Amino acid sequence: MSDLAIIGGTGLTKLDSLHIVRREVVHTPYGEPSGPVTHGYLFDQAVSFIPRHGPRHTIPPHQVNYRANLWALQHIGISRVLAVAAVGGISKNMQPARLVIPDQIIDYTWSRDHTFFEGRVEHVTHVDFSEPYCDDLRRAIIKACIAADVDYVDNGTYGATQGPRLESIAEINRMERDGCDLVGMTGMPEAGLARELNLCYATCAVVANWAAGRSDGGISMDELARNLERGMQQVGSVLEAFMTSN
Ligand code: HPA
Repeated sequence: MSDLAIIGGTGLTKLDSLHIVRREVVHTPYGEPSGPVTHGYLFDQAVSFIPRHGPRHTIPPHQVNYRANLWALQHIGISRVLAVAAVGGISKNMQPARLVIPDQIIDYTWSRDHTFFEGRVEHVTHVDFSEPYCDDLRRAIIKACIAADVDYVDNGTYGATQGPRLESIAEINRMERDGCDLVGMTGMPEAGLARELNLCYATCAVVANWAAGRSDGGISMDELARNLERGMQQVGSVLEAFMTSN
């Protein structure tokens, strides 16, 4: 078994190229993960996979059991987590269908179970989150983007919103003033929980649409789906390059 897991987001509920060996149901002290963890081979390299929104894409962002997903992955021996996530583009260079490897994050979510350190803890514990993503894994994804010759941006600040609705223009304007380049609904608490478990975690974001107010008219769900499909094809090429060089 590998130490690497992929968390698939919207548009990636299964890995088409994954040669599946086994499905593992993991029960956790935090409840049930989004689905069984699938173990297999991707381009001849061992990897595990879990679909964030469930195998049939039925779990909305605010109801994902992030704690159970990450706890389950660590429990089965995973130490590196490559998260794939759909996002909206705020900054000018965050064009639809482009891939982005964010290096910072701002949390706007609320009322999600966001920590493992709760209840009667032995010591009050804080974790360093200055650099929220694992730099080694970020670099490896960027290297794979270069090898796969895809359209990508190698940094950016991800703003995590509560969802499931998309944002208002005023909310996106505020996020831009805060320094957000991207907006998505699943980046937190996932990244924070991964850090609490000492997992090496990085995200490959797929820009599905211009965020609210960043294009003429509203956000078209058809266009979003088309961009996501194009972006996910690129993710497929990146994963191939990643798996064959890591
Ligand atoms: N906002 C939040 N999450 C998203 C978006 C968006 O515009 N697009 C894809 N995920």
